[in-house]
Amino acid sequence: MSGCVSGQLGKNNSGEYKNGMVVSAHPEASEVGIAILKKGGNAVDAAVAVQFALAVVYPNAGNLGGGGFMVYRSAKGEINALDFREKAAASASRDMYLDSVGNPIVNKSLYGHLAAGVPGSVDGMVEAHKKYGKLSWAEVVQPAVDLSQNGFRITKRQASELNGLHRDLMKFNPDGTAFINLESTWKENDLLVQKELANTLKLVQEKGRAGFYEGAVADSIVAEMQKGKGLITKTDLQNYHAAWRKPITGTYRGYKIITMPPTSSGGIALVQLLQSVEPYPLKKWGYNKDSTVQVIVEAERRVYADRATHLGDPDFYAVPKNELLDRQYNKQRMASFTWDAATPSSAVLAGNVKGKEHEETTHFSIVDKEGNAVSITTTLNGSYGSLVVVKGGGFLLNNEMDDFSVKPGAPNMYGLVGGEANAIAPNKRMLSSMTPSILEKDGKLFMVVGTPGGSTIITSVFQTIINVIDFEMPMQSAVAAKKFHHQWLPDEVYVEKDALDSLTTAKLKAKGYKIQARGAIGRVDAILKTKWGAYQGGADPRGDDKAVGY
Ligand code: DON
Repeated sequence: MSGCVSGQLGKNNSGEYKNGMVVSAHPEASEVGIAILKKGGNAVDAAVAVQFALAVVYPNAGNLGGGGFMVYRSAKGEINALDFREKAAASASRDMYLDSVGNPIVNKSLYGHLAAGVPGSVDGMVEAHKKYGKLSWAEVVQPAVDLSQNGFRITKRQASELNGLHRDLMKFNPDGTAFINLESTWKENDLLVQKELANTLKLVQEKGRAGFYEGAVADSIVAEMQKGKGLITKTDLQNYHAAWRKPITGTYRGYKIITMPPTSSGGIALVQLLQSVEPYPLKKWGYNKDSTVQVIVEAERRVYADRATHLGDPDFYAVPKNELLDRQYNKQRMASFTWDAATPSSAVLAGNVKGKEHEETTHFSIVDKEGNAVSITTTLNGSYGSLVVVKGGGFLLNNEMDDFSVKPGAPNMYGLVGGEANAIAPNKRMLSSMTPSILEKDGKLFMVVGTPGGSTIITSVFQTIINVIDFEMPMQSAVAAKKFHHQWLPDEVYVEKDALDSLTTAKLKAKGYKIQARGAIGRVDAILKTKWGAYQGGADPRGDDKAVGY
């Protein structure tokens, strides 16, 4: 198994647990989740507590001012999906980020007040808790109140990020925010106290959704919008509601996949990818060997082309779900692939764009003692979102509007293109790639998985699943294993350092594959239920991520 980072958990490793597990991007948030489970809370109670804790300790992506998706499976096998993705404001319009001659205005959908969609996370958590929670709302919000009020110790990575963002944060928040250190530079283990955020969390704790979408917090959001020429109004906030949706399901080599439907493209794309590669003997070829890479890249090329055309908010656009999930259709798409040479993306569908790295979202996976499982991916979009911190509210606003196709064929920050299906419209949700997923084997829980990574999310979840099912890796190894990525456009295979050995690279290049080195692909946080009934965590070594169990 070449290129695989160490850190495997064996059968008797102390990293396996019987009663419950939380894997998230920040150690403090994982600890909050486990404490809730130990107190008798279920996986949804822990998930709500972790979402709010991440909004405090992991402000890059944890959020109150963003959105996300939850996939849920109860111990008894009930499945559900919650869409708490942001929406465009009612006054948003199709060409709002274009100049007078119809070209996208650089950064207009990325930074500042106009980049923000109407936040969905608070309503999402209220809905999830109302339907499935066991502990009181006040109990599950309390850990985040404590962390914001008393402060937490920042990691080395966070200190350096906040120092790097000092100037940009000043630009969008001239009156200061808790993230700006005026006295000196941030250092590892400094205490970050967020008093304004604590007040917001207390209001949410007392009043539920009204604590955020009405009253003082809503007033602060609207005042902030007026200051920065943003669009979100009181009515937009009042009208925001998360949506329960029917999960996408599919099968792969006898495993059942339960994953996120539109407004994410992730679930449909994941099942399409699995269907596309299922006829091929990946296990025989081996992890990241040339035939394996070739088949995966060709599947990704075709599926991402579909994504660009056919995926968008299902409340606004009739996504051809059944057609895309038809096994025969995906087999047919692979029929144009030949072993001799790379299929040019231009032959799959027209277009020519450039991609860019710049990603921050976060995923967490939770299982409880009964076997209930929650898979949540949540985001502000870019790291620290729009960089606007709501004055008085103490939380960052998202820059999710960039996930719309601001102009047909014009790439977004992840190099993704789109058209009509994902055009901006009032109150519409922007398309996502987030792919929180849960797998079953023989009617029982098998895996909880998801990741950040913009356009690479779908790839990372797909390859993590294959690493476990085809290449029989334990959870930690499957997560740590090096990944590669193709997204149709640009027509390049992005590879993490050491993902492919030199012989494999040479063989692929000879067939016309353009191999491009890049930094980390994904940051998967996952849990596997082993044959012997233990929970095995996979916390991505690419970040500060941590698996905690009991
Ligand atoms: O919803 C999406 O697909 C993007 N806004 C996700 C952004 C992301 O993953 C950034 N992360 N690393």
